[in-house]
Amino acid sequence: MNEKLKGKFIVLDGPDGCGKSTQVRMLSEWVADQGVDVVSYRDPGTTIVGEKIREILLDPAHEGMGDNVEVLLYMAARAQLWKEHISPDLEHGKCVLMDRWISSTCAYQGVAGGFGAEKVLKIGTDSLERVWPDVTVVLDVDLETAASRMQRDLDRMEQKGDQYHAAVREGFLELSVYHETVKVVNAAQDIEQVHAEVLKLIKEF
Ligand code: TMP
Repeated sequence: MNEKLKGKFIVLDGPDGCGKSTQVRMLSEWVADQGVDVVSYRDPGTTIVGEKIREILLDPAHEGMGDNVEVLLYMAARAQLWKEHISPDLEHGKCVLMDRWISSTCAYQGVAGGFGAEKVLKIGTDSLERVWPDVTVVLDVDLETAASRMQRDLDRMEQKGDQYHAAVREGFLELSVYHETVKVVNAAQDIEQVHAEVLKLIKEF
């Protein structure tokens, strides 16, 4: 397992409130326990450029932002994160765990926003050195469970309403059409159960 985890690029993704930050942390601890150097990053963000782009994207004052503009900004933050961190880390044999990646742009802007998942993937192919990670684990959750986990002020994306977020969920569930490394876990279960299922998938890979 130790050798197999080195240099692997693993993404956890899903609708807001799916619990992916907790699952990234738990998976990161497990990978470290296997004796493998592991790093985890959030997308958008992590780099100075990426965190500034994140602020622009999530600021509720920017309500008129178009889906195409969102796609380009999310992709720009991602390209910077790849250059500054992910690429050198993978080269050094680290296991890289991501909190979101292009799978989010496909589901949010591509499907829910109507931009088109194929177009998102085309822009990704033209602007990123790597579009698909070794595995993308989608943490699937219904709107009600997700809302119960988000008892705080909502950012601009989270404020887009139930219809948008129902489409985001569908967008994530359709992703395996585009790549065979996309897998879905039922994230409405309790934290330990979800972690066990995530581990099972990672071990299978
Ligand atoms: P986060 O809070 O999970 O870090 O994600 C920030 C928000 O941005 C979240 O509502 C999902 C959204 N998002 C997109 O709409 N498209 C994307 O490509 C990414 C990465 C996130």
